[in-house]
Amino acid sequence: MRAQDCQDEIRQVLLSQEEIRERIAELAREIERDYAGKVPLLVGVLKGAVMVVSDLARELRMPLEMDWMAVSSYGSGTESTGVVRILKDLDTDLSGRDVLIVEDIIDSGLTLTWLTQNLASRGAASVEVCTLLRKPERLKTNLAVRYIGFDVPNEFVVGYGLDYDERYRNLRDVVVLHPAVFGADDVDPNGPVEPARKVL
Ligand code: XMP
Ligand code: MG
Repeated sequence: MRAQDCQDEIRQVLLSQEEIRERIAELAREIERDYAGKVPLLVGVLKGAVMVVSDLARELRMPLEMDWMAVSSYGSGTESTGVVRILKDLDTDLSGRDVLIVEDIIDSGLTLTWLTQNLASRGAASVEVCTLLRKPERLKTNLAVRYIGFDVPNEFVVGYGLDYDERYRNLRDVVVLHPAVFGADDVDPNGPVEPARKVL
């Protein structure tokens, strides 16, 4: 789906599919350099990271393997707690593997901090993280993230794998939704949205 297919539901397009494509290609060049001679295992975190893994893996000009995990934060509400439950575990033995966890977005960072430690404890040779998006205002950990696409403002974003109530994952761009979509009457739909910034 393209932004024009759901124009009325969008407050602002933060990143076009072209900007995302270019940035993923840049990250792929860095990863190729860093993992030269190795066969990394890309671990995609379901479901949000499906598009990032799919595009990153095809952009990478090197042998690699892919596996998937599904995790959920304990507790109700939208704030992650850092206590994580594994809903679907990896099929791959991590002994001696170079693991690259691929995420859609880092918010508090608590989920990834837990995941990084969990995978490292399985005997991986290395565990690094690649995320397309980061909300720097919200970070609650000092987790070292090796590859970051863009910093985004503290707004709820959807598209390119990210959902609101399971919808919009198939939108090609990353957007901020119109507040009416999620029933917020205290948000000005015409108010400014900070731009996304490439992380250098
Ligand atoms: P933490 O706080 O542990 O959580 O870094 C990261 C997870 O929170 C979800 N998340 C979002 N999902 N739009 C979304 O669709 C957002 O703006 C957003 N912010 C956080 C997401 O599942 C991510 O993996
Ligand atoms: Mg996610």
